[in-house]
Amino acid sequence: MKIVTTLSEMRIERSLLPEPVGFVPTMGYLHAGHISLVKAARIDCASVVASIFVNPTQFGPNEDLARYPRDLPRDLALLEAARVDMLWSPTVEVMYPSGFQTWVEVEGLTRSLEGELRPGHFRGVTTVVAKLFNAVSPDKAYFGQKDAQQAAVVRRMVRDLDFPIEVVVCPIMREADGLAMSSRNVYLNPAERQAATVLFRALSAAKAAYESGERNAEKLRTLVREIVTAESLAKLQYISCADYDTLEELETVRAKALLSMAVLIGKTRLIDNFVVGL
Ligand code: PAF
Repeated sequence: MKIVTTLSEMRIERSLLPEPVGFVPTMGYLHAGHISLVKAARIDCASVVASIFVNPTQFGPNEDLARYPRDLPRDLALLEAARVDMLWSPTVEVMYPSGFQTWVEVEGLTRSLEGELRPGHFRGVTTVVAKLFNAVSPDKAYFGQKDAQQAAVVRRMVRDLDFPIEVVVCPIMREADGLAMSSRNVYLNPAERQAATVLFRALSAAKAAYESGERNAEKLRTLVREIVTAESLAKLQYISCADYDTLEELETVRAKALLSMAVLIGKTRLIDNFVVGL
């Protein structure tokens, strides 16, 4: 695997890659969810590029940028084993040189859910993803369904700014007890790790209710709220039952919808979602 850290080297190495090129952007501390994206890219594409860049502009002032988990040697071994051809691993100075003042922002889709609780987060995400796309010029880019709003926002950006890139969204990878895989799970102590299963339990109950015929979105939200509230270590930040593409809250589920939630378990913020009405 070629490791590239400067833009000039990136341009040369990229031009040598057999097409189509699949791209998996990450912030490192990789887990099976990231590797599932690499595997999907490996199946679809002649070349696979991954990136590791902990993007400071998507973290709020009180978020976990300084303590975000990092383990580059382990990440390199995982990417090698998954047969990634090239790793783009720029420094903060390469991505945000002094004087940087240009931002990419998707408007409506970023106002609710994560966007409401994390002001500026999606502006950081879309700016860095646009820059990563410009550096890598992939044919396809792979994102996880766990960050459902991020996937919707990136899809919108790609359409609105005419990036010639297909966005592929891959299923959530879960631990045996249902907890969605996330680099942030490492922050949980054993009691919190046990409590964290409440996200999966609550969403599963709502999905079962949907499958039994419940179409009232508020009833589905209430079911989730009740299950999360019963878990003493959990604090629900939001529960949403929204249209899959517009992310507007629904009264009645008639088509593809996204049941999504954010929960604080101790100090760790976890998100999860299920899609219904496929
Ligand atoms: O999902 C992530 O890991 C990040 O938000 C991304 C897409 C790599 C941008 O920094």
